[in-house]
Amino acid sequence: MSMVSDEQLAGELSGDVSSYERWLQSENIPVYRGYSVEDLSRVNLGPWARKGGKGCFINLIGGEQSTDSYVCEIAPGGSLKPQKHLFEEFVLILQGRGATTIWNEGGPKQTFEWQEGSLFAIPLNASYQHFNGQGDKPVRYLGSTNAPLTINLYHNIDFIFNNSYVFKDRFSGEEGYFSTRGKLYSVANQTVRSWESNLIPDVRDFKLFELKVRGGGGSSVIFEMANGTMAAHISEFPVGGYKKAHRHGPGANIIIAGGQGYSLMWPEGGQRVHVPWQEGSFFVPPGRWFHQHFNTGSEPARYVALKFSGSRKYSMGRTSMSTESLYNAGDQIEYEVEDPEIGALFEKEMAAKGFQVKMPYAVKKQS
Ligand SMILES: [Fe+2]
Repeated sequence: MSMVSDEQLAGELSGDVSSYERWLQSENIPVYRGYSVEDLSRVNLGPWARKGGKGCFINLIGGEQSTDSYVCEIAPGGSLKPQKHLFEEFVLILQGRGATTIWNEGGPKQTFEWQEGSLFAIPLNASYQHFNGQGDKPVRYLGSTNAPLTINLYHNIDFIFNNSYVFKDRFSGEEGYFSTRGKLYSVANQTVRSWESNLIPDVRDFKLFELKVRGGGGSSVIFEMANGTMAAHISEFPVGGYKKAHRHGPGANIIIAGGQGYSLMWPEGGQRVHVPWQEGSFFVPPGRWFHQHFNTGSEPARYVALKFSGSRKYSMGRTSMSTESLYNAGDQIEYEVEDPEIGALFEKEMAAKGFQVKMPYAVKKQS
């Protein structure tokens, strides 16, 4: 048996800074941290050399280096530089309208148009370029990606951004790939509906389906996009309603598409983090923290979730949640066993706005 002595030390290893974190710093744009961002339309952006526009990263605690997000701005009448990368990405248009040209290396190009509220996904490692369609207004969009996963895994930036492999099983240049047509699926053993499409024209008015199991009189639809492992869904719940608390893994990026209210997020047995929100707010519940959404506004509340996993076609295993209650080894807290402080706080928040709580108990009974 050979022994290693201190004299043989080759040096000291640096601290716990990931390859992704080093790359993030090298991009040299503002970085937002913490639990939430109040308003995506008001974040500070800096010149972003790689994109050819302005941007900031939103790398919140709840991403836990599974997913990240960024906001990027395209100047009036301008375009960004072409991009290609070995991580998945959702794009949600926050402001403006324009078009994206997309192609596989050596293949034909195709272009599709989008507007405020549009959601689409970039097929893995496809080349693309975004264009602002208006000469007098900037475009602002949110990108949510699984870059932390792939950059940390391969820790080779050249491999991630200059890789020539074409994933034809995800996108082979077929015409109409970004049409708004789609296919509707049911999901085994669940009442949720899944819409397979690569372009959602407007998340703010997209048709949803009643989903009783999550409570609060809510409705929902999930998406399969660009043959990716990341998944998206829209959820809406009515005036005076709140959803059941639940928990799952990290990396679910939540963007409020309409309405007003707040969310609570807490680790089991720990303190609750209170996140107030309105249209344009953004937050990410930390992994395995319970979280619960409350509508205190005068219109239905709707959010978009862009998640690390959850695709039913390309499952990453049981990284999402179970809709079974906690008492059935699941991840959901049923209304009848939730902490009474939850309902009391909701009544207080509603009273502060001059609203009477009429709905929740009726809504609870419906669920
Ligand atoms: Fe969730």
